[in-house]
Amino acid sequence: MPIRPATADAIAQAAAALREGQLVAFPTETVYGLGADATNARAVAAIFEAKGRPRFNPLIAHIADTGEAVRLAVFGPPAQALAAAFWPGALTLVLKKRPDCPIVDLATAGLETVALRVPAHPVARALLRAAARPIAAPSANRSGHVSPTTAAHVEADLGERVALILDDGPCGIGIESTVVDVSGSEPVLLRAGGVTREAIEAALGTPLARHSDDAERPTSPGQLASHYAPRAAVRLNAVRPLAGEAFLAFGPTAPVHDGPTINLSPSGDLVEAAASLFAALRLLDASGAATIAAMPIPEAGLGEAINDRLRRAAAH
Ligand code: TXA
Ligand code: MG
Repeated sequence: MPIRPATADAIAQAAAALREGQLVAFPTETVYGLGADATNARAVAAIFEAKGRPRFNPLIAHIADTGEAVRLAVFGPPAQALAAAFWPGALTLVLKKRPDCPIVDLATAGLETVALRVPAHPVARALLRAAARPIAAPSANRSGHVSPTTAAHVEADLGERVALILDDGPCGIGIESTVVDVSGSEPVLLRAGGVTREAIEAALGTPLARHSDDAERPTSPGQLASHYAPRAAVRLNAVRPLAGEAFLAFGPTAPVHDGPTINLSPSGDLVEAAASLFAALRLLDASGAATIAAMPIPEAGLGEAINDRLRRAAAH
């Protein structure tokens, strides 16, 4: 069994495994990550292999602090403002790579940019400090599947493929980091996530441009239409579930359903809903229902990220 409680001992063992080029899954405040030494091409290749991930989809490099980040990539004023406001935390910045950046091309899919994040989770930070190098880490699920918010989710998807899964319980935020491209003339939102658009716009003092598919930028593969997908079909904006469907409810007005039902937040709290989303999708999927009916969720705050994930789950 590769799951181990994230004690100081286990973290030290995990850091040693990373330095040897092995894969280690670890908790972050967003989702569990599948980590490898970002400066080791074979280790990074093993991530793509374990996830079944297309190689054109670049990885986020995780680092212990902002001081390390500025040695890897170029920070203009918007990048500095966002790092100051949200690091450590659930924000990933896409930046121009410095010429001497040691992160391997495979991790960045050969792009001139690199995605960096300083996570806030104490286990992730301790691991990054002990590994003492950037750690590439996508979400620790099979490519296209629902992201993992517990160690058991990681084991179900990747079990034998990792040296070790550090377990520190469920992730607090439960949805991936927000990805903002600050490598060009204006910041662009590539992926909605754990830091809301409203918070980012407040820190920037300007509205955030949204990624458009015809923009002259490499498509961020988080933009792939089908992603975060359970086995079951997902029916969106379901005001009322049909007989035989599993029901992903939200809020105090959810109708009673005679079948598998999870209410993401009976009080209608989007933070609580984000934290339960991926575990709920996995559980409803496991009920065996052919379709998961998902109630409408407001598009404000974390609702933007929740709806993004549900739309991609439905596109499967
Ligand atoms: O919360 C998270 O971000 C988690 C935890 C483990 O940190 N990680 C995560 O990684 O969600 P992943 O690989 O599942 O998603 C990374 C996203 C993808 O949409 C990828 O296309 C985008 O970041 N990305 C990475 N590097 C990029 C780059 N240079 N340019 C544009 N998009 C990039
Ligand atoms: Mg992912």
